[in-house]
Amino acid sequence: LITQIQITSYDISEKRETLKKDFIEKARKEIDRLLPGLKESIKKFLIGRLVHEMLGLGRLEILLADPFLEEVVINSSKEPIHVYHKKYGWLKTNLTLEYEDEIANYAAIIGRSVGRQITNLTPLLDAHLPNGDRVNATLYPISNEGNTITIRKFRKVPWTITEFIANKTVNAEIAALLWLAIQYEQNILISGGTGTGKTSFLTTLMPFIPPNQRIISIEDTREIKLPDFLHWVPLVTREPNQEGKGEVTMLNLLVNSLRMRPDRIILGEIRRAREAEVLFEAMHTGHSVYATIHADTAMQTYKRLVSPPISVPETLMEAIDLFVVMFRDRRKGIRRVYEIAEIPYTTLKTIERINVLYKWNPSSDKIYQNRGSKKAIAKLRMTTGLSNEEIEKELENRKKVLTHMVKKNINDINSVGKFISSYIRDPKKILSEIK
Ligand SMILES: Nc1ncnc2c1ncn2[C@@H]1O[C@H](COP(=O)(O)OP(=O)(O)O)[C@@H](O)[C@H]1O
Ligand SMILES: [Mg+2]
Repeated sequence: LITQIQITSYDISEKRETLKKDFIEKARKEIDRLLPGLKESIKKFLIGRLVHEMLGLGRLEILLADPFLEEVVINSSKEPIHVYHKKYGWLKTNLTLEYEDEIANYAAIIGRSVGRQITNLTPLLDAHLPNGDRVNATLYPISNEGNTITIRKFRKVPWTITEFIANKTVNAEIAALLWLAIQYEQNILISGGTGTGKTSFLTTLMPFIPPNQRIISIEDTREIKLPDFLHWVPLVTREPNQEGKGEVTMLNLLVNSLRMRPDRIILGEIRRAREAEVLFEAMHTGHSVYATIHADTAMQTYKRLVSPPISVPETLMEAIDLFVVMFRDRRKGIRRVYEIAEIPYTTLKTIERINVLYKWNPSSDKIYQNRGSKKAIAKLRMTTGLSNEEIEKELENRKKVLTHMVKKNINDINSVGKFISSYIRDPKKILSEIK
């Protein structure tokens, strides 16, 4: 087969699909010639294996195709491949790559598909597969037991708020509050540890943005997905090439996005001081901003932002209206909204920096009101023109709408987005329909 098909690296990176079709066709002819009379199902299986071996990642492809697996990791050729299963957590597979070279070879294939190399001189690789799955690879002797590959799989179908209410990540009451807050342009920061579901939660909140707003998102890899009918421009950073040229950073994109007349800006993750600085500047010039940041509690998020190396001046922190903190219990395999918090209006006398409005209780697995809001609700009163009682009523109505959506399995991102905007357009009609 190899002698029959001319493959250039250009074909592999740019014309993968055509190449694959060509390959499948020739493989079929060859199998028919060598093994005539095979059952169709067996033929298909053999062709599939050939395609995986020649154009893909061999036996790894079987694991990558399993939607229940979140992570696939290779630690060396001495031990089997481990996977993180959605229900059962970490598991050992019965697949072992036989040689260290095989691992290095897969790492090289993955690197090549995004124009990067992994070699003895550059033994660390960060890349992603064509489908968006994130990959890290390290070579021996940097990883001292052998070559490693860590694949973090990317969920192909975006999560929605109804799914997160149904699986208890968040309740309808809090979702209703976030809905109102987002509609009325409050700035929201989502924090949590690695893999706690920050980006996923951020994505589920975005359909709360009204359709007449222009949204710009900025990420390292395309993770955020929004309903089709929103007015949205996704931007993605780029790594420098081998000669160190052509890099486009988050900061470049953030600065550029401000010239694109955005109403709302989504920043995948805040990591550096300059990104935070430009982001706070954007909030102060009247844009609504949503971002994620790595920190375990609302208080730690605050501290991380105002301390070096990020060092946002404390006086600017009030621009953030709501903090959402995510938590993941690895043992139970659950992810939860752990805290909702605000920064109260500070006066010279107050020392309190963070007011935690809701807090999740691990033993009851419920989120409870912790303290009354001193700012977010007051600000909503101002921007909506509603009284406290009317806001209560509005939150109650939205809670009903969300609960209805869960009950009716309105789950996919476009139907969720449409239902939400139909409520905004004509709340009375929707409320009477769902009674
Ligand atoms: N609330 C949730 N319930 C179940 N799975 C989730 C939830 N949030 C995220 N996930 C899954 O967890 C993994 C990590 O989520 P992600 O949002 O990328 O985390 P983070 O941005 O915090 O690193 C993904 O595979 C995602 O599909
Ligand atoms: Mg993330």
